[in-house]
Amino acid sequence: MTALADRSVIVVGATGGLGLPIARRLADQGCRLTLVGRDADRLRATGVPGVVVAADVRKAASASQIVEAAVTEQGGVDGIVFAAGAVAFGAVDEISDDVMIELFTLNALAPMRLLRAALPALRASAAAGHDPFVAHISAVVAEQPQPGMAAYSASKAALAAYDAAATRELRREKIRLIDIRPPHTETGLAQRPLAGTAPRLPEGLDPQQVADRIVTAISEGEKELPSTAFTG
Ligand SMILES: NC(=O)c1ccc[n+]([C@@H]2O[C@H](COP(=O)([O-])OP(=O)(O)OC[C@H]3O[C@@H](n4cnc5c(N)ncnc54)[C@H](OP(=O)(O)O)[C@@H]3O)[C@@H](O)[C@H]2O)c1
Repeated sequence: MTALADRSVIVVGATGGLGLPIARRLADQGCRLTLVGRDADRLRATGVPGVVVAADVRKAASASQIVEAAVTEQGGVDGIVFAAGAVAFGAVDEISDDVMIELFTLNALAPMRLLRAALPALRASAAAGHDPFVAHISAVVAEQPQPGMAAYSASKAALAAYDAAATRELRREKIRLIDIRPPHTETGLAQRPLAGTAPRLPEGLDPQQVADRIVTAISEGEKELPSTAFTG
């Protein structure tokens, strides 16, 4: 069990279909939150208590800005939930360079940069015995890449591969990395693609239930959340 009361947790994508219910649950458990998204008003409008940081995580400098806010205003970093991301649909010759770069920057590079920037604070949390964690939401497509979503699948597989390697590095330092690979969930993400149009998808999972499962995994010390953990 990881005690969440009074822990300082960064939630990136705190206005999102998954990030917001996760942030609400963490606040209910007594976490002190640093809430990140691109727009401060949208973050405040969620009503979730916490320090608001308006940052575009595609920009490299945002990582240190976010960590600095958590350290100075919440006293450290005991956890990160990275729930920002975007999707794109289309055949391989329909996805532009700009879209491929955006997918990889937001879905893979941004969480990698944030983890790296937060490492000193996460190490301090581990030294204090706070069982720090980093929860990355990759996706089921990291396990089962889909046609018509090759670049999105590749960006998520890149993050999952990074998580698999970093998990083994950070375990020694008592920092827990959780790769979370939910199946399609009804957050509206598929209706906001960077490019293309979503294919007809079967009814997705309920975002509230997916958020519940993720927060349970965080609080119960789970180390991986494959797609089957949401449907089994
Ligand atoms: N929904 C699904 O079916 C599903 C399945 C598997 C995995 N996932 C993954 O789960 C994550 C969350 O998805 P979701 O469905 O919750 O999507 P969502 O509802 O569209 O939420 C995306 C979040 O990311 C934030 N965001 C987007 N671009 C950003 C940027 N450049 N800088 C900072 N924040 C940014 C958005 O905030 P602002 O717009 O306020 O900036 C929003 O809070 C994504 O990585 C997605 O790939 C989703």
